[in-house]
Amino acid sequence: MRPTFSRILNDKGLQVSANRQIRWGILSTANIGRKRVVPAMQAARNGRVVAVASRDVARAKSFADELSIPTAYGSYEELIADPNIDAIYNPLPNHMHTEWSIKSAEAGKPVLCEKPLASDAAEAQHMVDTFARLGIPLAEAFMYRFHPQTQRVKKMVDEGAVGDVRLISASFEFNVRDEDDIRLKAEMAGGSMMDVGCYCVSIARMITGEEPHRVTATANYEPNGGVDNIAGGTLHFPSGVIAVFDSGVRSYFTHRYEVRGTSGRIVVDEAFVINPTLPSKIRYWHDDAPGGYEEIEIPAANSYTLMAEDFADALLNNRPPLFPAQDAADAMVVLDNLRAAARR
Ligand SMILES: NC(=O)c1ccc[n+]([C@@H]2O[C@H](COP(=O)([O-])OP(=O)(O)OC[C@H]3O[C@@H](n4cnc5c(N)ncnc54)[C@H](OP(=O)(O)O)[C@@H]3O)[C@@H](O)[C@H]2O)c1
Repeated sequence: MRPTFSRILNDKGLQVSANRQIRWGILSTANIGRKRVVPAMQAARNGRVVAVASRDVARAKSFADELSIPTAYGSYEELIADPNIDAIYNPLPNHMHTEWSIKSAEAGKPVLCEKPLASDAAEAQHMVDTFARLGIPLAEAFMYRFHPQTQRVKKMVDEGAVGDVRLISASFEFNVRDEDDIRLKAEMAGGSMMDVGCYCVSIARMITGEEPHRVTATANYEPNGGVDNIAGGTLHFPSGVIAVFDSGVRSYFTHRYEVRGTSGRIVVDEAFVINPTLPSKIRYWHDDAPGGYEEIEIPAANSYTLMAEDFADALLNNRPPLFPAQDAADAMVVLDNLRAAARR
C-alpha cells in the first residue's frame, strides 16, 4: 500500500515543528516564476525555493543567480528526481502541464501547476485521476482566489449582499508583448480564452458554486488557423444566473468583474492581478448605504504567497489544498465547451 503523504514527508525527515518548510523545485525559467511566483514563495512563512531546472543549464544558472536559488539543473528530469525537493511548481506552457506534472507525481512529488490545468478537459481529468490514484496532492495555481478581496466578495455574495445574483460580468484582456509568446501558439494550447478567459470562468463558477449547463461564445482568431485573440461569451447556470465574459490577448489591459443581484451590485476593478503592495477596493452599490454606495478597502496581500503557503500547509498538515484539483478539471470542461462554441 502507498504511504500517505505525511508518511512521505516523515520519510524525508521533515519535522513536525513550528518552522517546518517545504522545499520547492521550479520546473523551467518561465517569466511568471521569475517575476512573481518564486519571489512570493521565498517570502512565504513555510517554504523555500531550493532548485530550478531549464532545458538549458546556462539559463537555469542565470535564473538561480538572479533569484538566489542554490541549485540549477539542465533538465527537468534531474529536478523531479532530486530527493531534496518536496514539491514542484510547474509553469511550463499549457500543453506540457500534464506530461510534467504526472512525471513529477510518479517521482513522488506534489505539484502546484499553473493555470489552466491542461490543454483540454480530457487531459485535466487524466491528471486529477492519476494524482488521486498515486495519492499525491495537485493544485492549480489560480492565485487571485487566495486574495482577501476575492474571499470577501464571495462571502458578501453568499451572505446576500446583492440579493439574488442575476448577472456576473467578467473581463480579462491585455496585449501580448512578444510575437513568439506561448499564448499565440495553438500547438501550445494558447489563446485568449485559455490564457485569461479562464479567470472569468473561474470567478463565475466560484460566485455561483455551479457548473454552467449551456454556454455560447464568439471569437476572432489570429491568421492561418491561429489562436483566438479576442473572445466573448455567456455561461448559463442552472440557478438562472447568466455570466458574460470577454477575454483578449491583443487589447488594452483590463481585468474586472461585476456581480449584479436583485438588491445590489459589486464591482471589482482590480480583479485578478492584484497589486501586492497596495490596498485594493471593492465598490458596492446597495440601498442601505448612505447615498446608495460604499467602498470597502481590502488590505494589501500577495496572492501568490498566500497560494504557496496554502499548498505548503496542505502538505505539512496532510490536508487537501484549499481548492481541489477536480475544480480545475471541471473548469476545463467549460473552457472546452466555450472554445467549441466559438469555433461553431
Ligand atoms: N498565475 C498567473 O498569474 C500566471 C501568469 C502568467 C502565466 N501563467 C501561466 O504560467 C505558464 C507559463 O507562462 P509564462 O508566461 O511564464 O511562459 P514563458 O515565460 O514562456 O515560460 C515557459 C517556460 O517553459 C519552458 N519551455 C519548455 N518547452 C518550451 C517550449 N517548447 N516553448 C517555450 N517554452 C518552453 C521554458 O523554460 P526553459 O527554457 O527554462 O526550459 C519557458 O521559460 C502558462 O501556463 C501560463 O498560463 C500564470
